[in-house]
Amino acid sequence: MTTLASGKKEETMELVGREVARKHIKSGMVLGLGSGSAVAKFARALGEEIRSGEVRELSIVPSSLQAFLLARENALPLTTDTAHCPTSLDATVDGADQVSIASRSMIKGGGGALLKEKVILSSSKHSYILIDSSKIVQKLTRSVPVEVIQFAIDSADEIIRREHNAETILRKLDKGYPYYTESGNLILDCQFKRPIDDPIELERSIKSVPGVVEMGVFNCHVDKFYVGTENGRVESH
Ligand code: A5P
Repeated sequence: MTTLASGKKEETMELVGREVARKHIKSGMVLGLGSGSAVAKFARALGEEIRSGEVRELSIVPSSLQAFLLARENALPLTTDTAHCPTSLDATVDGADQVSIASRSMIKGGGGALLKEKVILSSSKHSYILIDSSKIVQKLTRSVPVEVIQFAIDSADEIIRREHNAETILRKLDKGYPYYTESGNLILDCQFKRPIDDPIELERSIKSVPGVVEMGVFNCHVDKFYVGTENGRVESH
């Protein structure tokens, strides 16, 4: 598949961020902020909306330290309760690593923030996912991050390999140190041998492995996927 050249992609994703900020964010919202580079474009656009007085009195719930820093850099008003996710957010804006528009499922967690991202998305009345067109597939194929408590890393690894015929890699930092999530867990990146036919069943079965805290297939409701296309336009699905 052809991919967007990086300069062009940046510009197109800026358009995507701006469109979502203008169309969907209204004053007074409690807003979940996902993580990643597409969310960074949105955060900048939202900062402009706030500075121009178009949007007021937001309360931003960040999904990660990266999202927290993005909010701070762009002067987005952060929630005062940093310990709890509200039970009902008005909307969440997030990115994804791979999306099947056909099944409305996605793989997330490339940046390791899947756990809080799933809590926030699942608690939101509306959700908007920002991606470029190279991430769209018919069926999900990418490796799926699975967040596991350290105590269970070997047993969970063994079960996932055996029962799901997956190749697993413990996520590590550059110099070989294990990567720990913000919640203090490890990540197994799991590559399944075949495209994922049934993302709902896969989410259910991996989450039932003892010691697994969360996994990166997301089947929660998405209102719209906003897609930056190769010709520099924004599509929504
Ligand atoms: C963070 O852990 C991820 O779920 C991100 O939302 C996802 O990796 C998308 O990031 P980009 O917008 O940087 O591709």
